[in-house]
Amino acid sequence: MSPILNVGVVGTGIFAKDRHLPSFQEMPEEFKVVAAFNRTKAKALTFGKLADIPESKVYDTIDDLMRDPEVTFVDSLVPVQNNVTNVKKAIEHKKPILLEKPIAATMQQARELVNLSESTDLPIGIAENWLYLNCIDVAKEHLKSIGPIVAFTHNSTGPFFSSNKYLVTSWRQNPEHIGGFLSDGGVHQLALVTAILGEIDSVSALTTQVREASGTDDVVFSTVKMDSGVIGTFSYGSAFGSTDKSVFLKIYGKNGNILIDLCSKKELIVKVTVGSGGEVSPIITTINLPQDDSFGVNDEFLNFRQSVIKKDKKLFKGQPKAAFHHLACVDAFLKSSAKNGTNVKVEKY
Ligand SMILES: NC(=O)c1ccc[n+]([C@@H]2O[C@H](COP(=O)([O-])OP(=O)(O)OC[C@H]3O[C@@H](n4cnc5c(N)ncnc54)[C@H](OP(=O)(O)O)[C@@H]3O)[C@@H](O)[C@H]2O)c1
Repeated sequence: MSPILNVGVVGTGIFAKDRHLPSFQEMPEEFKVVAAFNRTKAKALTFGKLADIPESKVYDTIDDLMRDPEVTFVDSLVPVQNNVTNVKKAIEHKKPILLEKPIAATMQQARELVNLSESTDLPIGIAENWLYLNCIDVAKEHLKSIGPIVAFTHNSTGPFFSSNKYLVTSWRQNPEHIGGFLSDGGVHQLALVTAILGEIDSVSALTTQVREASGTDDVVFSTVKMDSGVIGTFSYGSAFGSTDKSVFLKIYGKNGNILIDLCSKKELIVKVTVGSGGEVSPIITTINLPQDDSFGVNDEFLNFRQSVIKKDKKLFKGQPKAAFHHLACVDAFLKSSAKNGTNVKVEKY
């Protein structure tokens, strides 16, 4: 029987309580949360009660948690300017570590984190749960039928919700991480696009701040060129007035198109249209992909578990190098916008 992995949770805030803990609890044959640490201990104690952790394993310091021999891996959900420090501690204590996205607060920190991950055989993963959406594999399977691929448009726009539970977190109100919400949420979108179409070479972007509560720019509209030569547009922002949520990726080829509709988190829809032009009757296939509430997190945890059990860091999809690229795209958007939309190369690792 495969072992149950014992998890030590660092940072017992909103996402730890509302998503990571439920995901671990939904998979009791695979995971058990055995320890916790949080800067404000009272919150860790409340989390400990929910997770059924004995008080003696709600630690006063992250080092105490890392020293616990019962902890098989560390699950870190803190503001990402702390990610490099937590990786250093994990390496010191020889614990695999999964860190919430984006990879880091700055490109310099992101490079340091990738360097650290390259220096060890320990699994060090960045939790970008959109990498696990099954629409990615479905779209990739059909790319050939519409190819050669020429262009794409990715759009993720939606209304502002002042009741958004994440707005009250002080680290989002005064972001140290580049791009604020643009990197906080935008890396998910970039993970989706680049998992299907490969890395981005250069961008021309304009960003703007619509809501004071966002702390910094919260909207980006851009044109991009991929390493492959494919061209596209990438738009992201949930800071507008009343509007439908519109989240889709449409990929255009010389022989048709693929539309991935992500408007409903309950069910993704992939529509593949194959045909060489306007005069032919296209063959249309629609694939409905119902999602569980974790939206990729459960599969992400199972993938990290395999990586830990098999002691093979490469098995995990959320490689630090991939997450570096996603943050580098946001960095390039901001640099391009600062130069009034001038084309900017995306920094590569
Ligand atoms: N994948 C996704 O879809 C998704 C969704 C939401 C969040 N996330 C990620 O999850 C992480 C946590 O986000 P959240 O929304 O849960 O935020 P949160 O509620 O503010 O939780 C962050 C936790 O980190 C602690 N913390 C804050 N500053 C710290 C510091 N300087 N040193 C050590 N600990 C510190 C906080 O402790 P205190 O109690 O002392 O403030 C808090 O418990 C972030 O990386 C975020 O990007 C991912």
